[in-house]
Amino acid sequence: MRVVVAQDAPDAYKLAADAILTQVTKNPSSCLGLATGGTAEGIYPYIVQAHREKSVDFSNVRTFNLDEYHGLSQGNPQSYINSMNRWLFDHINMKRENIHIASGVGNAEESVEKFKKELKEFGPIDLQLLGVGKNGHIGFNEPNSFLNAEVHLQTLSNDTIKNNARFFKNEQEVPRTAITMGMGDILKARKILLVATENKQNAIRMLFTNDHVCPEIPVTFLKLHPDVTVIIDKALAIKAGLQNEIEKNILCEEL
Ligand code: F6R
Repeated sequence: MRVVVAQDAPDAYKLAADAILTQVTKNPSSCLGLATGGTAEGIYPYIVQAHREKSVDFSNVRTFNLDEYHGLSQGNPQSYINSMNRWLFDHINMKRENIHIASGVGNAEESVEKFKKELKEFGPIDLQLLGVGKNGHIGFNEPNSFLNAEVHLQTLSNDTIKNNARFFKNEQEVPRTAITMGMGDILKARKILLVATENKQNAIRMLFTNDHVCPEIPVTFLKLHPDVTVIIDKALAIKAGLQNEIEKNILCEEL
């Protein structure tokens, strides 16, 4: 596992965007795994900018989003499809048929099966972007997740509901379930890029300060993957006790 310590959050987002852009430039038919949430929102403007200014071509790129709230329609600004359109897809030259996000409406079981089938047909993912929850969740694989889980309907933990309430009018509006790729799907990606800033110190500490893999903190499953790069900012590195790592590496070249 490589760790890159960026100066600050915008620097971390830019490095992550550069890694994704390098992947797409090297392989214009890449299959990307994408994330949503505040961290991902910080990354996409740099990708849009590179598309506009450097004509990075997305016409043959395929994407799979990690998760989608169950019960929010595409018209709801908090649905992940709506967010992804606003942040990224409406601004780059991707083909709509190459965008895969589980449907948040209708029969959940059918949405799960459809997404699972698409992932099997077009996967594996070349580069999977991840954020991490304060409680260590990845996608919406909450504490006590299964290592080999596939796409499934997940009940959100109280911690996640409370945390994500900041994106809604109030906590009651946060959906209680979401469709998410499972840990098994995520670990099948060829490369993984995890980005974290702010208050993720418990999760990040568990990732770097010991070799424990524990289902209570799903991010620790990433220790089992051979090609993971973690980009964090300096403030988070200090909070997580990673002073020794504070030396900016330009490891994204390798991605
Ligand atoms: C969302 C997702 C989640 C977020 C995580 C961190 O698609 O996969 O695992 O990455 O909840 O969210 P932020 O970045 O808002 O702290």
